[in-house]
Amino acid sequence: MSRNADTSTPILPVLAERWSPRSFDTSRSLTMADLTPAFEAARWSPSLSNLQEWRFLVGFRGDATFAAMTEHLSGWNASWAPNAGAIVIGMYEDDPENRGREYAPYDLGQAMAHFSVQAHADGLFVHQAAGFDRDAIAAHFNVPTTWKVFVVAAVGHLGAPELLDETLRARETAPRVRRPLDETVFTHPFPAA
Ligand SMILES: Cc1cc2nc3c(=O)[nH]c(=O)nc-3n(C[C@H](O)[C@H](O)[C@H](O)COP(=O)(O)O)c2cc1C
Repeated sequence: MSRNADTSTPILPVLAERWSPRSFDTSRSLTMADLTPAFEAARWSPSLSNLQEWRFLVGFRGDATFAAMTEHLSGWNASWAPNAGAIVIGMYEDDPENRGREYAPYDLGQAMAHFSVQAHADGLFVHQAAGFDRDAIAAHFNVPTTWKVFVVAAVGHLGAPELLDETLRARETAPRVRRPLDETVFTHPFPAA
């Protein structure tokens, strides 16, 4: 089953082939060594004034950190993400007293993009999610109030769509779509709605 992006012109294979699955292979586990290249890629992403105002909390399936993370997933995310080999939580510094911090969520997103692409190049799949209880995670892991817990990412080896229930299997196999490029990139004033 190819999930490759249908691009208007060739792009890097790792970008065309990346997608966000919900089925993970529970017979495979992950260690920190497996994720180190992805974290290293995130570490080397650009940021405003090189502030690097991101941090990552990681749990591996079977450990207490992972178990605590899965307790605070919301809705459908609670059914599929616990099958991942690891869960990464991304946070950014949110200190209004510090100039430049308003770009911290942008920089975290960019670091997560680096993470996802490197992980994919290493044979792993990443599915980011906003559906989780950010306050509960912050409280459980003693995250300082100047840091904003923002995104969760399930990371693992791809599983078969048949492992999912009917609803999620339909989402797993639905066509991947994007707005066309000519509605996204323009060289004139912003188009009328
Ligand atoms: C910030 C962010 C939050 C997301 N939240 C969720 C989520 O809570 N649950 C979910 O199943 N997918 C979530 N996704 C995944 C997107 O739905 C997915 O990336 C998008 O549909 C494009 O699909 P693709 O990554 O396979 O190309 C999120 C992605 C991002 C970047």
